[in-house]
Amino acid sequence: MHNELGRNDYCWCGSQMKYKKCHAAFDDKIRFYQEQGCTVPTRDLIKTPEQVKGIRESAKINIAVLDYIAKNIRAGLTTEDIDQLVYEKTTELGGEPAQLGYHGFPKSVCTSINDQICHGIPSEKVTLCDGDIINVDASTIYKGYFSDSSRMFCIGNVDKEKEKLVRVVRECIECGLQEVKPWGFLGDMGQAVHEHAVKNGYSVVKDIGGHGVGLEFHEDPWVGFVSKRKTEMLMVPGMIFTIEPMVNMGTDEIKLDEKNGWTVYTADGKPSAQWEVMVLITEEGYEILAY
Ligand code: MF3
Ligand code: CO
Repeated sequence: MHNELGRNDYCWCGSQMKYKKCHAAFDDKIRFYQEQGCTVPTRDLIKTPEQVKGIRESAKINIAVLDYIAKNIRAGLTTEDIDQLVYEKTTELGGEPAQLGYHGFPKSVCTSINDQICHGIPSEKVTLCDGDIINVDASTIYKGYFSDSSRMFCIGNVDKEKEKLVRVVRECIECGLQEVKPWGFLGDMGQAVHEHAVKNGYSVVKDIGGHGVGLEFHEDPWVGFVSKRKTEMLMVPGMIFTIEPMVNMGTDEIKLDEKNGWTVYTADGKPSAQWEVMVLITEEGYEILAY
């Protein structure tokens, strides 16, 4: 990180304080880690208090959208119905679904059922059935600020194995969150997620991960969940990223739907589950912005 600011200039964070009284020591600390060879965030990944406010508002809409889906999801709905509910709720609250048209994605939400790992495309031909597990992944743009989170839903009577998978992936998020703290490393979190999945006999998808989010839908860093302690990017107050591990009952190998170019399946056809939370690193620890 280079330092173009003088110590008596106003700080880059918009506080109206002199740099030396505001983020100078913070920047020195980051530089210290960088000199030790650590991967550190660039300044554009550190959100200012004003940006955090805007991103938090966007995230509130995302939470409300998924709460609305939680209330309404049931067997007999099509994934197209879910797409409509997401679109209606997001726009009613003044937001816009970030997925819609993103790199040509045709719908407002991803709906990934059973052996679909992620990026399932809503369709009127897909009806939710008793025993299905589904990930609903929503994202919002509000006043230019982005948010992203996803939840699992069990439809009707789900068998014990699938129910356990859904529960364990939720626990993986909790294990990961215990390692989320300022001046720790993303790899501390990734290893904790991975260990909990493996302990339960599952595998974790290596090729798809979480990401920074807030000013864009997908920002740096890429966030893996098969990483090692003390590696990957330093977690610094003001960073916002997703924790969204995809955990498979069988192999971690994946298969892309060549026809639609989006949907990712498990290579062995066994179920996969994913939860996604969006976190802000704070001076004290973290804040979950969206879930
Ligand atoms: N939460 C998902 C992700 O970060 C959302 C993907 S949206 C899509 O990958 F449009 F790319 F499908
Ligand atoms: Co995401």
